[in-house]
Amino acid sequence: MKFSDLIFYEIYPTSFKDSNNDGIGDLNGITEKLAYIKELGFNAIWLNPMYVSPFKDGGYDVENFFDVDPKFGNLDDFKNLINKAHQLNIKIILDLVIGHASVLNKEFLLSAEPFTNEYSDLFIWNDNPWSLDGGRLISGMYQRHGCYMVNFFAHQPAFNYGFKDIKYPWQMSYKDERCMKARNYMLDVMRFWLSLGADGFRVDMADSLVKNDEDKSATIDVWNYLFGIIKKEYPDSFFVSEWSCPSRAFKAGFDADFVLDHWDNFYHRFSRSDENTRGLSCLHGGNLDFFLNDLKSRLDDAKKYHKLLANISGNHDTFRIANYLDHKDLKLFYLLLFTLPGVPFIYYGDEIGMKTEHNIYSKDGGFQRTGSRTPMQWDDSKNMGFSDTDRSLYLPINEDNKVNVYDAKKDKNSLYYFIKELIKIRNQIDDLKLEDYVINENNRIIEIIRGNYKLIMNLSNEEIHLNNVIISTGQNDVLKHNEGALISLK
Ligand code: GLC
Ligand code: CA
Repeated sequence: MKFSDLIFYEIYPTSFKDSNNDGIGDLNGITEKLAYIKELGFNAIWLNPMYVSPFKDGGYDVENFFDVDPKFGNLDDFKNLINKAHQLNIKIILDLVIGHASVLNKEFLLSAEPFTNEYSDLFIWNDNPWSLDGGRLISGMYQRHGCYMVNFFAHQPAFNYGFKDIKYPWQMSYKDERCMKARNYMLDVMRFWLSLGADGFRVDMADSLVKNDEDKSATIDVWNYLFGIIKKEYPDSFFVSEWSCPSRAFKAGFDADFVLDHWDNFYHRFSRSDENTRGLSCLHGGNLDFFLNDLKSRLDDAKKYHKLLANISGNHDTFRIANYLDHKDLKLFYLLLFTLPGVPFIYYGDEIGMKTEHNIYSKDGGFQRTGSRTPMQWDDSKNMGFSDTDRSLYLPINEDNKVNVYDAKKDKNSLYYFIKELIKIRNQIDDLKLEDYVINENNRIIEIIRGNYKLIMNLSNEEIHLNNVIISTGQNDVLKHNEGALISLK
């Protein structure tokens, strides 16, 4: 299988399926639901962190990189999940939290000891407990004579990949031998999970390794080093970066780079922006130039390096796409997503139009992201089929939007069936996986040519009549405002 054949489903383990009725999702629950993922046509899964963690940041604060958090199961459950997935020809990639650990991490606590030991250089520390100069430093927490550096939240100490521009004597060059500890530690983490059958990683904050690295050239060096080793040992492993800067991510050696929900990219401008984030989205009358230029520039980077854009419906950090678009516009959005070059990623529940719950207390350091991490809605029974527990769920059901898989399957016009059809088409038509494309725009009618096929998106107020339609969001070969179709040119 080529990487361009991959179609991913992202799962936040806490909220997919609870198999043992304790109110929290788990690995066996995911295994139970592999058939559902297969039936939709996905051939790959990205699992958000399921490592041992105090969950002060949704598991992105790892206490033990080499084990499964007990609330999700154990290593045997993990191996079982991998085996069952592989039997169904579904690949599984894990989240590699490479930039930081949790303050509960054993190696971090050893680095925090007042005496020098083999972990002293694994994390970034300054040499003065009284000075916060030179970075986001936390003082006074441990016996070590210094402060540790933070990578994201205060409880996430930064691994020591060193600095590019040295501004204080305590900052080590990223070429310093002592900074190799962190590289080797992470190589061991990768080897551990790849040897258990994982197919690769989504790399968290992939650009955050070397500090004071404005142009990221040193971080790119570190990645070239890491890939030089791990891709030799595991040539088929797939790595997708949370970077959202394709030229840098591809130079670093990633196979794919996410197009995140950032105000300055085509994804945001097409479907999500509003008056508050630099103008209306293209689907709501916004200007098309920015969308078209950014799309072309990212696709050209992908082509230049023969790598892939990872195009998302949303993820565990964003508000859900269904909060922005109605049923009809969602279909157009997905038509674009599945016909662009790259690798599509669908966030669990987006296929049925689940929405972000805004009226919810923060859990696990999710803050405003918590409402996008509510339980998967399987049917209209107790707890929407997510769990059989009589106690309260770990994260509550979104009571305001009770869409569910059972209802979606009864409605031939549902988003569920539309996405299923799009996946089928993408799996069948190899032209949709080509890196080549041509984009034209005229009076708000956008055409994207993909080999012998053409995507037409009608953002104008005129009607368009078509022939040779493969799939359409409109009716009877007519495209009205904000409707689109894929047609054959053969
Ligand atoms: C990434 C993750 C996010 C997490 C952060 C820190 O952005 O997607 O959920 O909070 O990194 O690890
Ligand atoms: Ca459970």
